[in-house]
Amino acid sequence: MQKETTVTDSIAIDGPGAVGKTTVGRILALRLGWLFLDTGAMYRAITLAVQQKRIDTERNESSVVLLAEESGIQLTQNGSGAPRIFLDGLDVTDAIKSAEVERQVSFVSRIGGVRSAMVKKQQEMAMRGKIIMAGRDIGTVVMPGAKLKFFLTGTSEIRADRRFKEMYAASGAQTPAEVLADLIRRDKLDSEREISPLKPAHDAILVDTTNLTLDQVVDKLFQYCRERKLASSGK
Ligand code: DC
Repeated sequence: MQKETTVTDSIAIDGPGAVGKTTVGRILALRLGWLFLDTGAMYRAITLAVQQKRIDTERNESSVVLLAEESGIQLTQNGSGAPRIFLDGLDVTDAIKSAEVERQVSFVSRIGGVRSAMVKKQQEMAMRGKIIMAGRDIGTVVMPGAKLKFFLTGTSEIRADRRFKEMYAASGAQTPAEVLADLIRRDKLDSEREISPLKPAHDAILVDTTNLTLDQVVDKLFQYCRERKLASSGK
């Protein structure tokens, strides 16, 4: 895989689905005044592109890789940190959260050429300034030289409950049992894949979020940032 190109301060937050990496990372980035990148959204955007173009991921891997290399993915956020993601200029923020994308994203993100293309884009973004990245392989592959690496954990039940409340409770598009089954299936695929599987870096700080509120998780991570002198103020 690509060599480490990170030269600025960086923080990696890895962990399984729905553990809160993105929410926590975004709040922490606001507190520190750093950039934030949700790498899961990038894999989701490519999966959406694959579905829109009706490419068969099993039979036509090379087309999937080409799409990953050529698609324009832009992640932006407004002043309050609300994220928008654009695929070739079109806002796909809501579309990438669909159940169809959830179902297929692990199959797209296990393709080596797709990962190389995404890691390259992520490492380029890491050059732009102080950054927090959330994903599965940030501490191990994308930014192995990150100043701080966190690996968040939580029981599947608590993660599924959070995901259901956040995304499906209002629409009823999925039942709690379906959300739990999908999370377990995705965790298994992400952890057992050959290339860059989900696993903590050897120097990652493990944080079990099962019995913590969102604020408590953020505070805990912020405390580590202060100890490592990455936070300039006591906000
Ligand atoms: O964090 P998320 O649930 O939005 O991620 C969606 C999928 O993308 C996840 O099932 C695995 C994949 N992913 C990955 O392989 N590597 C990353 N750095 C981030 C996400």
